Amino acid sequence: MTTAMQFDRRLQLAALALLAASLAAAPDAAALDVIAAQRLARQSGCVECHSVYQKKVGPAWKDVATKYRGQADAGQRLYKHVTTGRKARFDDGHEESHPVVKTGDPARIGNLVEWILALPVAAPVDVPAAQTLARQSRCVKCHAVDVKKEGPAWKDVAARYLGSVGAEDKLYLHVTTGRKAKFADGHEENHPVVKTSDPDRISNLVNWILSL
Ligand code: HEC
Ligand code: HEC
Repeated sequence: MTTAMQFDRRLQLAALALLAASLAAAPDAAALDVIAAQRLARQSGCVECHSVYQKKVGPAWKDVATKYRGQADAGQRLYKHVTTGRKARFDDGHEESHPVVKTGDPARIGNLVEWILALPVAAPVDVPAAQTLARQSRCVKCHAVDVKKEGPAWKDVAARYLGSVGAEDKLYLHVTTGRKAKFADGHEENHPVVKTSDPDRISNLVNWILSL
């Protein structure tokens, strides 16, 4: 190797080291293992009281992320919250120790915490699950992704709501409350609702539609 090539190589290594350091300092959505985070949340029983999108017994994790956005010590605070079992206050006023994660592996715990703090950007759409729910709920009788049937093509719905604030909440209500829908021939009937009450499955379907 010539000296010049060695120098180039050293520059490259230095650039790589810098890149690695910046990634470690600010873990971004891409560096998260979303599937592992969700698995740990399920294994630890977190999902009995929490959902990503909706308030259950505990706050929606999306709202937790919003609350902590921009706070430098957010990661540390949540890490403590899910590992030390400190008292949590419930809606009915009683207090009990908040459950802790079922692992002692700091990397897995850190990944879960960073995932929660990165929501909703890192919430991936589980496409097969969304399609299954749409089939089970017989949505596909009136809807398709690309073509208009009795209901609008879901691609057109996504285009109409593109980027609009509150779109997710609006569609969530649309597919859970059975309010009146107007059909092409002018008649109105209650719009069918999804055949599940699991907020995460419903939100996944809604987010899939909005992502089309
Ligand atoms: C028995 C119900 C219950 C379970 C199970 C539960 N939580 Fe909570 N969680 C709550 C309640 C209630 C709050 C809000 C009250 C509080 O933080 O004092 C909360 C708050 C939180 C917060 C927000 C804390 C903050 O500082 O704003 C996070 C994050 C959280 N929980 C994560 C988890 C994780 C991760 C698990 C699984 C290891 C879990 N929770 C399991 C009930 C629960
Ligand atoms: C019997 C036919 C029919 C079935 C079944 C049906 N829809 Fe619809 N849907 C419609 C019609 C018609 C519209 C447009 C009129 C309206 O929204 O008032 C519509 C509109 C929508 C919209 C757009 C709402 C908006 O605000 O623009 C979404 C999203 C949607 N449906 C999702 C679903 C899902 C999810 C299911 C399954 C749970 C489903 N639909 C089942 C007929 C149907």
